[in-house]
Amino acid sequence: MDKQNKNILVAGGAGYIGSHMVQKLLDENYKVTVIDNLSTGHKEAINPEAIFYQGDTRDKQFLDSVFAKENINTVIHMDAFSIVPESMKDPLKYFDNNVIGMIKLLESMVDNNVPNIVFSSTAATFGNPINNKKIAETDPQNPINPYGESKLMMERIMNWVSKATNINYVALRYFNASGAHPSGKIGEDHHPETHLIPIVMQTAYGQRRTLKIFGDDYNTEDGTNVRDYVHIDDLADAHILALKYLNDTKNSDSFNLGSSTGFSVKQIVDAARKVTGKPIDAEISSRRPGDPDVLVADSSKAKKVLGWTPNYDNVEDIIETAWNWKKNNPNGYQE
Ligand code: UFG
Repeated sequence: MDKQNKNILVAGGAGYIGSHMVQKLLDENYKVTVIDNLSTGHKEAINPEAIFYQGDTRDKQFLDSVFAKENINTVIHMDAFSIVPESMKDPLKYFDNNVIGMIKLLESMVDNNVPNIVFSSTAATFGNPINNKKIAETDPQNPINPYGESKLMMERIMNWVSKATNINYVALRYFNASGAHPSGKIGEDHHPETHLIPIVMQTAYGQRRTLKIFGDDYNTEDGTNVRDYVHIDDLADAHILALKYLNDTKNSDSFNLGSSTGFSVKQIVDAARKVTGKPIDAEISSRRPGDPDVLVADSSKAKKVLGWTPNYDNVEDIIETAWNWKKNNPNGYQE
């Protein structure tokens, strides 16, 4: 890889997934520029070794000014709102931020001759899979919430633009990103927190009295939703492979990224009780709108084409890293 190919812009580099991505890129000797409007990201999560510009991905002038200063080869686009229940309540917030952000970013990439983009897409673009089976890239994408719809629109916009311009893309559809960096220095910290594992950790730590399990009447073995929890560091590895794929093949493609094992909400709570040694009080509550019954990845394409091998194949090990982050930073970045 020549020197220029190691200049990466991470849009959303102050976020949960973005901060782990930046760390991985620095570990792999890439030069990293971060843009983030800090609406949900944390200044403290931005690695001091990265160049940081505060601004909004929907602001083309801002993007043009960053591309003019930094000789960027690839954008890793991790900047989006990503909370399923919030998107059900406020769909326009999602279409405005996520879809307009993608359009402006691509416009600016075209104008500034930036050839590659790796995009954080999601399992939520698939909606409810047929017969709850593992989801392959060839399966139909029929989102059942505005968040998934906005990401599917972003994928499709990127695909049409790649046909009309020199831009190539890799869309990585994450299943449930989870865990934290083994150092315990960066991790998941949303306000308000809505994700299962950090909420389970808050309950274990005594910051919440009870965990609510949203529905036990789904079409699954124990009635609670089944998800595929994949460690954040394994996701970051897949991006490094995607960068190599873009440079080597000059092709565009999409990949599903999960551990390929499903765990129900009840199973996650049980695993967390084992890892933390805490009782973790849980009660069944009503369904949360927008939740599919089961989302589990078929990641064989990413393994075959990208050579991706997730290192975390045990959900207890993933929870252990989240627990380590919680114990080191009980209040997240707000110490
Ligand atoms: N859940 C509870 N109680 C809680 C929080 C969550 O029972 O307090 C349940 C949810 O109903 C769901 C499961 O735990 O069944 C996981 O919920 P999360 O909110 O942690 O994650 P989601 O599956 O809703 O969404 C996550 C990301 C999305 C991504 C999706 C892909 O937030 O961006 O995974 O599977 F699209």
